[in-house]
Amino acid sequence: MKKTIRDVQLQGKTVFLRVDFNVPLDGERITDDTRIVKALPTIEMLREQGARIVLASHLGRPKGEVDPRYSLKPVAQHLSQLLGVPVPLSEELVGPAVAARIQALRPGELLMLENVRFHPGETKNDPELARTWASYVDLFVNDAFGSAHRAHASTVGVGTFVPAVAGLLMARELEVLGGVLKNPKRPLVAIIGGAKIKDKIGVLENLLGLVDRLLIGGGMANTFLLAQGYDLGASLVEEDQVDTARRLMQEADARGVRVYLPQDVVVAERFSADAAHRTVPVGHIPSGWMALDIGPQTVEIFKAALQDAAMVVWNGPLGAFELAPFAAGTMAIAQALSTSKGETIVGGGDSVAAIEAANVAESISHISTGGGATLEFLEGKTLPGVAILQDLE
Ligand code: 3PG
Repeated sequence: MKKTIRDVQLQGKTVFLRVDFNVPLDGERITDDTRIVKALPTIEMLREQGARIVLASHLGRPKGEVDPRYSLKPVAQHLSQLLGVPVPLSEELVGPAVAARIQALRPGELLMLENVRFHPGETKNDPELARTWASYVDLFVNDAFGSAHRAHASTVGVGTFVPAVAGLLMARELEVLGGVLKNPKRPLVAIIGGAKIKDKIGVLENLLGLVDRLLIGGGMANTFLLAQGYDLGASLVEEDQVDTARRLMQEADARGVRVYLPQDVVVAERFSADAAHRTVPVGHIPSGWMALDIGPQTVEIFKAALQDAAMVVWNGPLGAFELAPFAAGTMAIAQALSTSKGETIVGGGDSVAAIEAANVAESISHISTGGGATLEFLEGKTLPGVAILQDLE
C-alpha cells in the first residue's frame, strides 16, 4: 500500500501536484474533461488542509519546446471554473520568476505550470530539472495515474528529492486495478478487444494466469480465428501473430481458462459506414469481405459468459464501433456490463469512449483514467510513477 495525502501533514506545505490533464481538445475547447473532474477531490483536499499547490501536467506530445497548440491555458481556465477560484498559469517552468510566484502563494492557492513537456528535461527525467522543481516545494503528490508508466521529471524525478505520496485518484486506481491482480472476485471475466494482438500480448498473458473466462473480440479476434483455420477473407489479420494466438490458446487450455471467440461476425465489403454489410457465421466470410463487428449470436454467448461474473475487466472495443453499422456488438456488451451484478472495471481510451457512447458510464464500478498506464498495470508491470511513492509502514 502506498502513502496518500491522507497519511501526511498538509497544513502549511507547498506541494508539487502532478496531474494528468492530457485531455482531448478541439481547438481550445475541451471535449472530455473527465481527467480534470477526477482530480478535483485531491485538489480540494489539499486546499481545505491549507496546502499551497503547484500544479503540473503535460498535454499532447510537444517536443521539448514551447508549442502553443499544446498550451494548458484552456485547461487552467476550465479548472478555475470548476473550482470557483483563480488558477493562474505560469509560462515559465523554472527560474526566479516562477520561484517568487510560488513563494507568494497563500494557503489554499494554486499556480499551474505550463505544459511540462515544453521543457526538454521533462521526458528525459533530467535530475537538474527535477531538483529545481523539488526546491520550490516540500512534498510531491502524484495524482497522474494516466502518466504513471512514464519515468519523467514531473512523474518520478521530483519524488527523488522530496517525499512522494499518492493523490486520491491515484490511490483509487491502484486500489481497484490492484484488486483485479491481487484479490480477484470470482468468476473473473476479462473482455479484451481492439485492433491488434501485438498491443495486447502482455495483458493477455498476465490475465490468463488470473481469469476464469476470456472473451476476445475486435480486430484481434480475427488472428485467433485464423489460428483455428478459418478463412477471414479481407479482414485485418496479423500473420506474424498466428503462432502467438495459438500459444495463448494452448496456455488457456492448460490453465483451464475458457476462451470465447466470435461465432458470427458482421462483414462488410469495405471499411466504411456506407459499405454493404451482413451477418455471417465465422466459417462463411465471403472472399474479399472483412469482419468489422461481433454478430448477435456472439453477443448472446458473451452475455451468458458475463451473467454470473463477480468481476469483469474490459479493455478494447469489440468492433469498429466508430462506424454506426458496426457498433452494435460493442454497445451490447457495454449495456451488459451496466446491468452486471459484479464489479465492472473498464480501462483504455476506446473502451471508455464506447461506455460513454452507450450512455452507461454511471453504472460502471470503475472507469480508469489511464490508457497505456492501465494496460501496463494489468500486464503486471511496475509503473515508475507508482514505484516512487512512499510505502505505508
Ligand atoms: C495518456 O493519455 O495515455 C497519458 O496522458 C500519457 O500520454 P503519453 O502517451 O503522451 O505519455
